[in-house]
Amino acid sequence: MFTALGDWLVQTPLHTFFSDTTKMSTWLIVPMSQTIHILAVSVLMICAGLLNLRALRIAGTRETLGKVASNVMPWTWGALTVLLATGIVQTIAEPTRELGSTTFLTKMTLVLISVAIAAVVQNTTKGDENYWERTAQRQSTVSLLAVASLTLWFGIAVAGRLVAYAT
Ligand code: HEM
Repeated sequence: MFTALGDWLVQTPLHTFFSDTTKMSTWLIVPMSQTIHILAVSVLMICAGLLNLRALRIAGTRETLGKVASNVMPWTWGALTVLLATGIVQTIAEPTRELGSTTFLTKMTLVLISVAIAAVVQNTTKGDENYWERTAQRQSTVSLLAVASLTLWFGIAVAGRLVAYAT
């Protein structure tokens, strides 16, 4: 299915436009998109660190988890929007490289799981800032989610880089 999508994208005018390195007006599109992608990764990683280290009670414990979530989640969604947009540009520029890569598809699956975890933590703390600290069981659950989330974001960054080396 993804290979077929890649084959179709190669024939689109947008692919020709994004991947044309012979024109002054277009050659910077992919390098700039890659640069912005990496800068957005930094923002996302800072947010993930702040939220998950607070959930683990390692840092930021002067604020409730709900307060930290309400501070960092808008930045997280902003960074993810930029990552999606710049990622789409790079995918259209090189559709067969991305959509034919198991590493890329694995990365996308991990992104969906990480986004779901972040959304759960954000939504549960919206109504009750101390939701995850009300019982020992909830604290263990959120600690587990935080470790999973940090591992996943790290794995996504590694997978993103590995697309260039592995299929
Ligand atoms: C939200 C959807 C995302 C899309 C559609 C996307 C797409 C892409 C694409 C197409 C590439 C180029 C891969 C290549 O051909 O070498 C890439 C690179 C990369 N991505 Fe993403 N990405 C997304 C999210 C993320 C996230 C959340 C992270 C980190 C947590 C991330 C980290 C990276 C890294 C580290 C690279 C390598 C950059 C480089 O070496 O220049 N991406 N991404």
